[in-house]
Amino acid sequence: MENRTAVSGETRFLHAIQLGVGAMPWGDRLVWQYGRSHGEQDAHEAFLASLGQGIAFIDTAEVYGGGSSERLVGRFAEEAGKPVLIATKFFPMPWRLSARTIPAAMRASLIRLRRDSVDLYQIHWPSPLLSVEKMMEGLRMCVEAGLTRTVGVSNFDQSLMLRSYSALARHNIPLASNQVHYSLLNRAVEKNGLLGRCTELGVRLIAYSPLELGLLTGKYGPENPPPGNRAVRYLHILPKIPPLLKLMTEIGQDHGGKFNSQVALNWVIRKGALPIPGAKNADQALQNAGALGWSLSDDEVEKLDAASDEVLGYRTGATAAANA
Ligand SMILES: NC(=O)c1ccc[n+]([C@@H]2O[C@H](COP(=O)([O-])OP(=O)(O)OC[C@H]3O[C@@H](n4cnc5c(N)ncnc54)[C@H](OP(=O)(O)O)[C@@H]3O)[C@@H](O)[C@H]2O)c1
Repeated sequence: MENRTAVSGETRFLHAIQLGVGAMPWGDRLVWQYGRSHGEQDAHEAFLASLGQGIAFIDTAEVYGGGSSERLVGRFAEEAGKPVLIATKFFPMPWRLSARTIPAAMRASLIRLRRDSVDLYQIHWPSPLLSVEKMMEGLRMCVEAGLTRTVGVSNFDQSLMLRSYSALARHNIPLASNQVHYSLLNRAVEKNGLLGRCTELGVRLIAYSPLELGLLTGKYGPENPPPGNRAVRYLHILPKIPPLLKLMTEIGQDHGGKFNSQVALNWVIRKGALPIPGAKNADQALQNAGALGWSLSDDEVEKLDAASDEVLGYRTGATAAANA
């Protein structure tokens, strides 16, 4: 059989990508109000605007919009006629109890995505019903069948990530990435050492919710909470964020008028992670793309760290915190 095992050079392509796009809002009605706040044309324009700015790494998942996000990404990418790098994810549903369910789910994703392989296939969440070793066995099957260029995990803590890394290494397959929540308003992975461990192992940390579901753009605040269940989720933090948002605006102004969203994303990039902000329309996508081409100084990163520590209840040098 042809040996299609991923080699480390293949895995490193993720390290060359600075910014991607999260495709969850494209098709997701429950969290992102697809069909109400934005529609298919907005999603398509967001996709094209990103591509036009050279941002060609798109993150989706089989569960986003019950497959709608994958279908839209597949169609947009096919019509674009330009190279698009696609990452998608396997969700460990409770009835998926063997390694074989992983390549089976992946083939279904590929049909929705209209392609023969993707660039990154990730396990969406760990599961008490399917061991890490079985999951890695399923990912190995995907690599060996040529269905994906690289494999990764998502929402894995250090110990699960190390088990994944070792299980794949036994088959000479590198663990390419760990996709986790990381933003100026959620620094758990930085404080608990996961980010450092990823850097050490060459595992790309992909940062989801890097705008903290829109909070870091500055358009929401205590007087103007975000719609839907985001208001409840952020009830306690909203009154604390104005000083951080003010500092972000000041720093953005010092860089020729960068938006808060751009400061938030640049901060993630400066920390060594790959942010994948969601964008509902072309304006948001274009604004997010403006996180590239400039860089926060060390001093500015330190000031932002301190302001975020204050909001999150970290004390300098402390490891315990509100969101750890
Ligand atoms: N692996 C996982 O478990 C997991 C979990 C969550 C997300 N993800 C991935 O990460 C991606 C991003 O995370 P996320 O969608 O949770 O949160 P996010 O990127 O922090 O926030 C995205 C939301 O912020 C608002 N927004 C984006 N850009 C903006 C701009 N420039 N100006 C103003 N508002 C802007 C939009 O919502 P409004 O306009 O409604 O405010 C948008 O839907 C997802 O699409 C998905 O691919 C993965």
